[in-house]
Amino acid sequence: MFVNRATEIAALDDVLRLLPRAIRRHTALLGLRRIGKTPLLDQVRRRHPTIAIARLDVDAIVTSPEHFARAVVSETLSAVLRARAAHAYVAETDDGLRGAAARP
Ligand SMILES: Nc1ncnc2c1ncn2[C@@H]1O[C@H](COP(=O)(O)OP(=O)(O)OP(=O)(O)O)[C@@H](O)[C@H]1O
Ligand SMILES: [Mg+2]
Repeated sequence: MFVNRATEIAALDDVLRLLPRAIRRHTALLGLRRIGKTPLLDQVRRRHPTIAIARLDVDAIVTSPEHFARAVVSETLSAVLRARAAHAYVAETDDGLRGAAARP
C-alpha cells in the first residue's frame, strides 16, 4: 500500500498536466537509497494509467549508443501499450520492436 508523498505526487501530476499544453517541466527526483523514489514513480504510473510513462534504468543501458536507442524505443512502445491496456513485453530486437510498433 502506497502512503503519503502528497506533495511529490502533486508536483508530478502537474508535470503530466502541463505536457499536453507543450509545457515541459524538467524534474529531478533525488533521495537517499531506499527512500522511496521508485515506489513514488510507480504510484504516478498507477494514477495515470492512460498516459504512456517510459522509464529507463540508466545503469543498465550505457553499454553502447545502439543499446541505448533500442532501450528507449522498447520502453516507449511498452509504455504506449500499457497505456492502451495491452501490456506486452517488448524485446529489444528488430523483430520485437517492429512487432510492438505494428500492434493495433
Ligand atoms: N510512499 C510509500 N508507501 C509505502 N511504502 C513505501 C513508500 N516509499 C517507500 N516505501 C517502502 O520502502 C521501500 C524502499 O523503496 P525503494 O528501495 O524502491 O526506494 P528507492 O528510493 O527507489 O531506492 P534506490 O535508490 O535503492 O533505488 C519500498 O520497497 C517500499 O516497501
Ligand atoms: Mg529505486
